[in-house]
Amino acid sequence: MNQEITVVILAAGLGTRMKSSKAKVLHEAGGDTLLNQVIRAALHVASPDRIVAVVGHQAEQVKASVKVPGIRFAEQKQQKGTGHAVMCARASVPSETGELLILNGDGPLLKPETLRRLIDVHHSKRIAGAIVTTEVADPFGYGRIIRDEQDLVASIVEHKSASPEQLRVREINPGVYCFDAALFWRHIDEVTPDNAAKEYYLTDMIEILRRHSHRVAPVLVADETELLGINTRVELAVADRILRERKTNELMLSGVTIEKPETVTIDVDVEVGQDTVIEANAQLRGSTKVGSSSRIGTGSVLRDCEIGDAVTVLPFVVAESSVLRSGAFVGPFARLRMNAEAAEDTHIGNFVELKKTKLGRGSKANHLAYLGDASIGSKVNVGAGTITCNYDGQKKHVTQIGDGVFVGSNSTLVAPLTLEPGAYVAAGSVITKDVEADALAIGRAYQTDKPGWAKRRREMSDKSAANGQRLVNKS
Ligand code: UD1
Ligand code: CA
Repeated sequence: MNQEITVVILAAGLGTRMKSSKAKVLHEAGGDTLLNQVIRAALHVASPDRIVAVVGHQAEQVKASVKVPGIRFAEQKQQKGTGHAVMCARASVPSETGELLILNGDGPLLKPETLRRLIDVHHSKRIAGAIVTTEVADPFGYGRIIRDEQDLVASIVEHKSASPEQLRVREINPGVYCFDAALFWRHIDEVTPDNAAKEYYLTDMIEILRRHSHRVAPVLVADETELLGINTRVELAVADRILRERKTNELMLSGVTIEKPETVTIDVDVEVGQDTVIEANAQLRGSTKVGSSSRIGTGSVLRDCEIGDAVTVLPFVVAESSVLRSGAFVGPFARLRMNAEAAEDTHIGNFVELKKTKLGRGSKANHLAYLGDASIGSKVNVGAGTITCNYDGQKKHVTQIGDGVFVGSNSTLVAPLTLEPGAYVAAGSVITKDVEADALAIGRAYQTDKPGWAKRRREMSDKSAANGQRLVNKS
């Protein structure tokens, strides 16, 4: 990593065209905020302490949204234009030498390769600046690149100030610049708000540098989609789709099978191991990590989860901040949340919810259960319909279930409660007291049988039907 590169990211604007109460750079595409996506690209060429984000609108929220530690922030209290934003960053840059990269905070699709290419051109040509350009079908709203006879950049003309002839230029400024830092800072104060919008235009720096006999070269990038600037939610959706397609392509090329990749939603930081299969419409979000040879069923939504190797997640499992260790088998229709953890070779079946609960190795809860605030040992069988009553209306209480416990179907376990190893709970029990190891606990009304009752009832019914009377059955 070149220690001489400083990156300034412009992220102070509100983004009026988003029609939002939220600052533009806080909107998300590809599973992270626009600003974090730009920072991600910048980190390929500079360390965090050489990256300065200029914040203004909702400065505190924007700062808090940046996950990488060590990024520097500068504040632009009033948004007087992109040139003014860079002036505001001046006090925060670690040095005024080397190269200065300036990036718009609303360009989340920028690729690290492009930044490297820009820096290389700047280096090799020994010029004052190099700027990325691209040709777009519809240049509306963008600053136009005006080239001189030597194919250097003569100026950037903002859409609002462009002549009819300039408006026809399809080569535009996407907002990705590389300058010789010393020259840039020497002349930045020459930018004035001398234009229709009364803003300090960063783009005026091209003409200013030329006035001082310096040269700025264009670096034309063929793929215009990489340089899309987000101004509206329609463009946000376009960026999101492109970022997700990049992510699925990257995973497939690394050995992950994705069925109908255009239907899945996989966030940028998600990791997936080789030979895992992701079925259509699955969503892997946040910091989710999936091991190898696992399967994620259709319609499942996993956020910030850790999934081991050879795990089977059947369709429609919703899990958040939870762990499924290798060999676990979950779903369909299961829910895990708040640090639920299923150990190796566990089975969690349909309509089972685990909240803040650990299920030990080889244990099973196959149908219809609520297990909350429970610590469950290994080889435990949790019968269908089991409920841990963890909440008394005021406080949450813990249920401890030892290794090898058998909990019969439809048991109600009233916490705080301990079932010691090897205990056996009879089906339908309401258990309110601790059960000692290897004991049988039955907590239900005893059954009474009345021989012949059903038969008598039928006969009476037949008789009254014959007499046209209503049946009154006495036990
Ligand atoms: C800018 C460029 C334009 C280019 C386009 C690419 C200028 C004068 N124009 O126009 O040539 O084609 O980007 O998308 O630079 N910002 C601040 N402080 C401010 C104003 C803006 O931090 O006072 C930030 C915004 O948060 C945003 C970025 O700068 O991330 C670009 O601002 P925006 O208003 O979108 O500029 P454009 O009008 O699109
Ligand atoms: Ca813009």
